[in-house]
Amino acid sequence: MRAIRMSTFGEADVLQFVDLPVPEPGPNEVRVRLHAAGVNPAETYIRAGTYAFFKPDLPYTPGFDGAGIVDKVGDGVSRLRPGDRVFVAALLAKRNTGTYAQMVVCDADAVHPLPESISFRQGAAIGVPGLTAYRVLFHRARIQPGEIVFVHGASGGVGLLVVQLARAYGANVIGSAGSKEGMELLRQIGANEVLNHSSPGYLDKIPALTDGHGADVVIEMLANVNLEDDMKVLARYGRTVIVGSRGSIEFTPRLAMMKEADVLGTALWNAPHSEYISSVYGIAAALEAGILKPVIGQELPLEKAVQAHTDIIHQKGARGKIILSIE
Ligand SMILES: NC(=O)c1ccc[n+]([C@@H]2O[C@H](COP(=O)([O-])OP(=O)(O)OC[C@H]3O[C@@H](n4cnc5c(N)ncnc54)[C@H](OP(=O)(O)O)[C@@H]3O)[C@@H](O)[C@H]2O)c1
Repeated sequence: MRAIRMSTFGEADVLQFVDLPVPEPGPNEVRVRLHAAGVNPAETYIRAGTYAFFKPDLPYTPGFDGAGIVDKVGDGVSRLRPGDRVFVAALLAKRNTGTYAQMVVCDADAVHPLPESISFRQGAAIGVPGLTAYRVLFHRARIQPGEIVFVHGASGGVGLLVVQLARAYGANVIGSAGSKEGMELLRQIGANEVLNHSSPGYLDKIPALTDGHGADVVIEMLANVNLEDDMKVLARYGRTVIVGSRGSIEFTPRLAMMKEADVLGTALWNAPHSEYISSVYGIAAALEAGILKPVIGQELPLEKAVQAHTDIIHQKGARGKIILSIE
């Protein structure tokens, strides 16, 4: 099979497009013939060998997310059979040969039915972003219907799904994007208000948008830039949840003290099994109900994994998820 493989850690060009033997599923494992794979920022940190949560043995095929058709099941698998449409969410799988490939073998627990209404391309956008979106809203921020949720960085893989889930749960959602196209997309998917985080003074609009109340919850995609400002736009007793951060920031603790506000972190890697399972059920239900409709912003063929890794970190103006399409 054709696959991406890395034999050393480093820049994006360590990702090689190669031929590999087709992997065999063992007991309680499933082989999926993939049509698309999701590309997540974490996979670039793993590729560089600098990621705190995971440093794989080499050689390594990256990728936790994908969608396709079950090809073969191992002994003990009764929930899935060959021919099933599925999505793969294998971040926490014990065995995962990597979704940047024509075939992946992973734990059956990481493979879930894909509703007919969701394309394989969209299915590749569910795993890490979907489970993160669910976890941040319901396990960490514990949002309530009627609350004001500001999704600071809403135009990418995680942010769009956060907006869709929060809206469906009854939150009043403000989303930010860094481009006109991203802002338009946020309006289309139902954000109540949209801000441009590339425009100076954009946060000054939040008091007027919230009748002076501020945001009950901020979901933050770039905390090293925004954490201090998030605390300023937060309502009293509010919560900021850090999803993404790429550096450090000088921070005034008094801002949290004055509002009795909480700063929470989230990392999907830490999800206890019970919360992982409830996230999977929640996401599956939201897909079935048409609440979650993943949006693909950029699609590249599998052999362009190097470009996908470069773009996901450096490109500005996200309009959804970056995926690799697989022949
Ligand atoms: N903690 C976890 O468990 C977890 C899980 C998944 C992802 N993450 C992290 O969360 C972040 C987002 O992941 P993703 O998959 O959604 O990435 P993505 O698809 O690349 O999206 C990045 C988002 O960040 C926005 N952004 C850029 N500059 C910003 C700024 N100054 N202020 C606010 N937002 C800004 C982008 O908006 P524009 O492009 O429109 O400017 C875009 O909406 C990454 O850092 C990723 O590593 C963490």
